[in-house]
Amino acid sequence: MDTIIECKDVQRTFTSRTLLGKKQETHALNGLEFSVPRGIVFGLLGPNGSGKTTTIRILSTLLTPTAGQAKVLGFDVVKEAKKVRGRIGLILGGERGLYGRLTGEENLKYFGALNHMGREQSKKRVKEIIETVGLTDASKRPVEQYSRGMRQRLHIARGLLTDPEVLFMDEPTIGLDPAGAQELRQMVPVLVKQGKTILLTTHYMSEADELSAQVAIINKGRIIATGTPTEIKRSFSKIIVCEAICRLIDAKAIEVVQRLPGIQRVNVTSDGPLQRLTIYALPGTEIKDGILKTLGEGCVESIIMRDPTLEEAYLSIIK
Ligand SMILES: Nc1ncnc2c1ncn2[C@@H]1O[C@H](COP(=O)(O)OP(=O)(O)O)[C@@H](O)[C@H]1O
Ligand SMILES: [Mg+2]
Repeated sequence: MDTIIECKDVQRTFTSRTLLGKKQETHALNGLEFSVPRGIVFGLLGPNGSGKTTTIRILSTLLTPTAGQAKVLGFDVVKEAKKVRGRIGLILGGERGLYGRLTGEENLKYFGALNHMGREQSKKRVKEIIETVGLTDASKRPVEQYSRGMRQRLHIARGLLTDPEVLFMDEPTIGLDPAGAQELRQMVPVLVKQGKTILLTTHYMSEADELSAQVAIINKGRIIATGTPTEIKRSFSKIIVCEAICRLIDAKAIEVVQRLPGIQRVNVTSDGPLQRLTIYALPGTEIKDGILKTLGEGCVESIIMRDPTLEEAYLSIIK
């Protein structure tokens, strides 16, 4: 079977009450559809409140969908929740899901018990996984004394405890310092090499670009673009980008460029005696000709069109 995760028209509505007791409905997922093939990192990207965590909670059987169908490894997440649960690992970011008063080792043994691991099996596996994530020295200390990076390593250990085929990572690098985040990012390809399939949510576009073979952009509970990061940059992006290195241009000239047809925005940075213009325009705009004519060829040292970064493409799609 090659499709490891599949969502078909998944809906999730939350009903809550406002302070005044009025009923309030939030449609967190509105017909979510996507599928993830085996053995890749699939990045789910979207603004705050777009439904990423809700999706992960549904796929990891912590929450049921209001309508629609979701499958993991061919098993229905509602009707066959137990089968799903035994085959997946969940790695959360931030402060969620660990017990501060318990030691790292005790946390893992507790999760082992929740996953029906036998005492001996759990003991052996916990020791092994603590070593893998480099927490052996801290394993007997309460988690409330752990740094953010150590907690994150414990989250990873927890997610990997049962050696699952599928891993869900919900913003795993949030709150980590750059070194901790890099450490985590370096683990991801290693896990993929071991044959795991990973669904990753992140706010960090460069992280998604670096790690994901495929991405989907979710907005208001619906997928609005999906493909490889390159496809997102080339086919879904609603902007094109041009970089021009110029000399001797003033604010007036830049204003003129800004008013050329199709130009959306111009960023200017100084680069020694030169200026770098990053020009964002609507697809199909003849940027290069317009710039050369406006500024004069003598002022323009170099001018190239480049793909938007995933972040630039994302921002143009989300708007
Ligand atoms: N338990 C809940 N009760 C009410 N509303 C919720 C609940 N969980 C999530 N929501 C709402 O559902 C939407 C999607 O939330 P979430 O999946 O957490 O988004 P994301 O992870 O992309 O930031 C948000 O509007 C959020 O406020
Ligand atoms: Mg979230």
